[in-house]
Amino acid sequence: MQAFQVAPRRTILLAIGLVSFFIILFKFYGDVPYEYYRNYSPGEVLPPVEDNNDKPQPGYFKAQPEWDFSVPRSAKGWNGYARSPKPKDVVVLTASDGGGHNSAIPDVLERVLADRKAYCDLHGYTNLWINTSRYDIGDAHRTWSKIPAVAEAFYLYPHAEWIWLIDTDIILMTPEYDLIKEIVSPEAINKGLMRETPILDGQLKKNPTNIFTPKDFRVEEIDILITQDHQSVNTGSTFFRRTAFTRYLLEIMTDYTMLMGNDHSGAEQDAIKHLMLEHQLVRNHVGIYPQRKFNAYVQGGDNMGYRDGDLAVHFAGCWVGGKCKEWFEEYWSKKGHKEPWKPEGQ
Ligand SMILES: *[C@@H]1O[C@H](CO)[C@@H](O)[C@H](O)[C@H]1NC(C)=O
Repeated sequence: MQAFQVAPRRTILLAIGLVSFFIILFKFYGDVPYEYYRNYSPGEVLPPVEDNNDKPQPGYFKAQPEWDFSVPRSAKGWNGYARSPKPKDVVVLTASDGGGHNSAIPDVLERVLADRKAYCDLHGYTNLWINTSRYDIGDAHRTWSKIPAVAEAFYLYPHAEWIWLIDTDIILMTPEYDLIKEIVSPEAINKGLMRETPILDGQLKKNPTNIFTPKDFRVEEIDILITQDHQSVNTGSTFFRRTAFTRYLLEIMTDYTMLMGNDHSGAEQDAIKHLMLEHQLVRNHVGIYPQRKFNAYVQGGDNMGYRDGDLAVHFAGCWVGGKCKEWFEEYWSKKGHKEPWKPEGQ
């Protein structure tokens, strides 16, 4: 008799406890989307992602479903908020067809992809290569096809929060570098972005634009992270956050009539530069980091050229002097170096 009564009482208490727990949970954490919990449940098994690299798209790129990539409530509109992503929701995207100037470097695509895979494995990031040959982008220059690749990356990885788009001619020099802590976390953005810095359109002395990055910004509105060299923003290494604004920016950058279909020598880079110079709205959402944060060049002084400890080195413009192979091999052999090699101030 006794045992018969004890058991249901425990069950009832347990049930009341559980219900109260969930009431409290949803009362106080109601502003965190439930996907947040679902995404990171332990032991989850996700089906492998199909990258479709071996088949061309069945028609004009803008008509593809990836342009409809979803944007979570957390990142939408006035009540969107900033947070640090989980490592696997940071995608390191190499968008390339393996051709172009970089083909002077032997096996460059295979080598950098293997290296980026190892880097991603070390930190838990997601490594992705998209063969950009598959996009039908009309008569526009091939480098525009990096933009549909960003849209497709968001589409292929529905939980990805940040996409780091990096060109093939970039070597990750410091494997232990933490992208979340140093670059995309709200704290890093708040601390690191350049405020009231001139937005360049050619060299500042020759062409002062008198247009500056905002003095104040809301971290939760910063959706794109980019750097500037001595002439303009450089899209060789750019971060995109999954937000409604990012979707809009990718859309307008690839406006065929106004931008993409016209003759812009800098292709998608000219598009984002133009939009930043022209629109305060765009400036409010595109953060500029000091160049060496994630886009140091081979050459240049302390504000521009690779120095020990920098995340990456970019061989931008190496074809001009036919130096791609030589420079690439030199830096490749120094990947992860610990001894002083290129210290600051020299
Ligand atoms: C990318 O795709 C194109 C055509 O679909 C193919 O010719 C090319 O070899 C691919 N590139 C690589 C590096 O596999």
